[in-house]
Amino acid sequence: MATPVDDAQDDEKAAPGTPVPAPAPVPAPAPAKPVSAVVGEPLLRPLAPAKPLPVVTFDKVTKSFGDFTAIKDVSFSIEDHPGRGEFVCILGPSGCGKSTVIRLIAGLTPQFPASSGTVLVDGQQILGPGPDRGMVFQDYTSFDNRSVLDNIAFGLECRGVAKAERNDLARLWIKKVGLSVDKDADKYPHQLSGGMRQRVAIARTLILEPRIILMDEPFGALDPPTRSRMQEVMVKLWREQSPTIFLITHSIEEAVYLADTIIIFSSSPGTVLKVMQLEPPHKPALEAQRDPEFLDTVFGIREMIEKLESSNRAGD
Ligand SMILES: Nc1ncnc2c1ncn2[C@@H]1O[C@H](COP(=O)(O)OP(=O)(O)OP(=O)(O)O)[C@@H](O)[C@H]1O
Ligand SMILES: [Mg+2]
Repeated sequence: MATPVDDAQDDEKAAPGTPVPAPAPVPAPAPAKPVSAVVGEPLLRPLAPAKPLPVVTFDKVTKSFGDFTAIKDVSFSIEDHPGRGEFVCILGPSGCGKSTVIRLIAGLTPQFPASSGTVLVDGQQILGPGPDRGMVFQDYTSFDNRSVLDNIAFGLECRGVAKAERNDLARLWIKKVGLSVDKDADKYPHQLSGGMRQRVAIARTLILEPRIILMDEPFGALDPPTRSRMQEVMVKLWREQSPTIFLITHSIEEAVYLADTIIIFSSSPGTVLKVMQLEPPHKPALEAQRDPEFLDTVFGIREMIEKLESSNRAGD
């Protein structure tokens, strides 16, 4: 669940692993107090259970490229739910800074570092890319000269995992993303459809089990049935692996289906217009998207974005 940044500061005080301050000396009970009033009063109040730090916090983050401000004073905080990651969808018009936001989380230049403000991952300032964060790019980046199997196993190879082990895992992931080991493992990227290449890109990232998955319009170029299938693949993998996922999309339907948090950005310079909480998906995509309730939510968000956008423009 997303919370205002100010609330997140309280979480930091209760972080696990932070040294617990020595308890204050307990004053001796006043001798005049009747015994009955003292019996049962604990000498020390038990500490509140420690809350995990937010997974990602943006605090007044601005990014400028020269004189141009891409995002301005962006603040949000995504809570950590151990055993259940958050599915965050980012919506906003073209050029509002969505890619800038997730590339700042990924630690990728030239968006990283921010011009001002703070980006925290697990309460720490990031120094660049790290194995805790995996990115799926819009353009299905794969190595053209590597087979599907070798593309998916690439990250494990970089980590020094032995060939037999990494190939076994890669075959498992070929199946998990709905490709065929027999038919597809030895193909090269140019022999695959857009949907198949996107599955390879997703498997390449998820095989490394990153805690945070950053996806920049991953399904933008897919036809509607393939897109629905890929949304379901993501929901299934999300349930199995429980990462925190940030997914950029232009589709309100996709965001309403997938997200339990939606962050809506204004047009350039991007600022947060609204953070919304929704029910996580519990039906297949095509079925869910026919529900009158679902359509109402999509319509409501579309209307709200139009209103927020026009009041934002009026306030410029
Ligand atoms: N390296 C850069 N140098 C200069 N300007 C940049 C750079 N990267 C991004 N921008 C500008 O910052 C703004 C936000 O870009 P960004 O790619 O984050 O937008 P976006 O919301 O992802 O857009 P789209 O939906 O079209 O992908 C754009 O106006 C873009 O031209
Ligand atoms: Mg973009």
